[in-house]
Amino acid sequence: MKFLRLTVIAAATLAAPLACAQSTGKLKVGLMLPATGTFAALGTAIDNGFRLYVAEQGGKLGGREVEYVRVDDESDPAKATDNINKLIKRDNVDVVVGSVHSGVAMAMAKVAKDTGTLLIVPNAGADAVTGPMCAPNIFRSSFSNWQPGYAMGEAMAKKGHRKVVTITWKYAAGDEMVRGFREAFTKAGGAVVKELNLPFPNVEFQALLTDIAATRPDAVFAFFAGGGAVKFVKDYAAAGLKSGIPLYGTGFLTDGTLEAQATDAEGLLTTLHYADSLNTPRDNAFRLAYAKAYKLQPDVYAVQGYDAAQMLAIGLAAVKGDVGKKAEFAAALRKARIDSPRGAFTVSASHNPVQDIYLRQVVGKQNQVVGVASAALADPGRGCRM
Ligand code: BEZ
Repeated sequence: MKFLRLTVIAAATLAAPLACAQSTGKLKVGLMLPATGTFAALGTAIDNGFRLYVAEQGGKLGGREVEYVRVDDESDPAKATDNINKLIKRDNVDVVVGSVHSGVAMAMAKVAKDTGTLLIVPNAGADAVTGPMCAPNIFRSSFSNWQPGYAMGEAMAKKGHRKVVTITWKYAAGDEMVRGFREAFTKAGGAVVKELNLPFPNVEFQALLTDIAATRPDAVFAFFAGGGAVKFVKDYAAAGLKSGIPLYGTGFLTDGTLEAQATDAEGLLTTLHYADSLNTPRDNAFRLAYAKAYKLQPDVYAVQGYDAAQMLAIGLAAVKGDVGKKAEFAAALRKARIDSPRGAFTVSASHNPVQDIYLRQVVGKQNQVVGVASAALADPGRGCRM
């Protein structure tokens, strides 16, 4: 008994400096993002944005110097569980930031929930992450797939369209953006007459474009992103559809892609929580700093990376760098107003941004703001119990 008591005391004494080191040593951030494949550029922009905010804070968050471990997740859901487990168990990261692809993010959310690891999702919109899979230690700095889809459903109905074809990759992001779109569009009296799909990340669009031409809808709603979005917009124009059947989409269709899409994207209307011409002091300062640091113009992905770091900073400031204080970390974010380049946003009860969704139009190399399509739009957080 005495031996047992001594062992317990010794263990507690040993544990104390460890707990202390956890809140005062370097902060290990695991960046799990695509560096290859159709979403590679999105991963780079998120990484750039995250590091920019940290650099602006002198390289420290919550009083701790930030150190990075980066993993290329290849936008492959089949490798996601192994990849995040390596970050948590082998690299001992304090927090994981990732990823872009909804399927990857759902696998990550499961591990984060099971292990209690702090996770900030800087893009992937999988509704489940802030729905049935929600958890006190999981946050998103981007959007839910429902949000920009729903906003476009309202916007296209207002334009007077009634018969629409949807087209997307067949996986959670495409399915859920179309579902959000359909919810708002049918509520406003419109009809989705055909849903077209192809597997992610295929870009053989020809047969589907022929189908659209034969169906002759009033308009088309699309979700593609990254390299796939570049090819889809170019193929749509090359098929001669652009002038007769207007193409709309969530803003991923034209964000970070305009250089490559050139005039084929001109005039396209999309919905997203960021635009290139907000012209607010906050966004202008961010755009200038980003351009100076990377010799590139930022896009929505860069903003989401930047805001993931801001959210981490807010939570860490409240717990003085101790990521173990999860309840206090979450409480700080739930009452925060995040001063984003996109415009200030708050965090919903299920930990998703409550934010304005802009209607944007491509003018030259910019997604310019036409107006606010849905103000302070909150994801319904269906199925979230926390
Ligand atoms: C997604 O898989 O959630 C996603 C990927 C790229 C852009 C937007 C959403």
